[in-house]
Amino acid sequence: MYVANWKMNNPSSSAAEWIDIVSSSKRIENCILCPPSTLLEQIKQIISKQNLPLTLGAQDVDPNTETSLTGGISAKMLKEFGCEYVIVGHSERRDFYKEGSDLLFKKVSSTLLEGLKVIFCIGESKEERDSGLKNNILSEQLKAISKILTKDVIIAYEPVWAIGSGETPSFEEINQTNNFLIKKLISFGLKQDDIKILYGGSVNSSNSEDILHLENVSGLLIGGASLDGAEFLKIIG
Ligand code: PGA
Repeated sequence: MYVANWKMNNPSSSAAEWIDIVSSSKRIENCILCPPSTLLEQIKQIISKQNLPLTLGAQDVDPNTETSLTGGISAKMLKEFGCEYVIVGHSERRDFYKEGSDLLFKKVSSTLLEGLKVIFCIGESKEERDSGLKNNILSEQLKAISKILTKDVIIAYEPVWAIGSGETPSFEEINQTNNFLIKKLISFGLKQDDIKILYGGSVNSSNSEDILHLENVSGLLIGGASLDGAEFLKIIG
């Protein structure tokens, strides 16, 4: 599973060209494209006109269902736009918008209630890692949604220090972290077979294959390198 997170960017070519390039791979059926919400309608049209097996996702969701909420986009609206997934808990939102446990719990539950799947991001900062707090931080982040975890919540482990930095943890460290996360998720009641963990943070076409082959990595969440259709095509192969 490959998740392209365009963040607050348009792709380097047009969305139509990006889709054209990427749809030359059979693996497009394992891709989830999360564009800015301004592009959702356009991309939904392209997907349906060309009958492509590309899945749409959103980068955020409003936790509320009320309609009188300026600027809000609810899970119901995202579903109408053809989204099947929503990214929740990305470190940029935790950091810039101070999104914490209570809000993230509400976002995850309103998304699941609409029948959409969640890509729930967790990750530690450099300082937390250096002070040996990584596992505590990851546990806390998972605990926030432990009561509503289902197989429709995909975990994306993204060390904050690896995002957009060109640095990644060693393969051994990714393995160790994922093993820890699996134990935690099982302790929260999930079955091993229902657990999916993605890796994100400075994934590109030179490291994607090796990371994807690691035990317990079910997919990749790709930011910067997903903006260029040709680079993304190399990643998915
Ligand atoms: P990056 O971003 O691939 O540019 O490091 C990943 C992310 O923030 O999801």
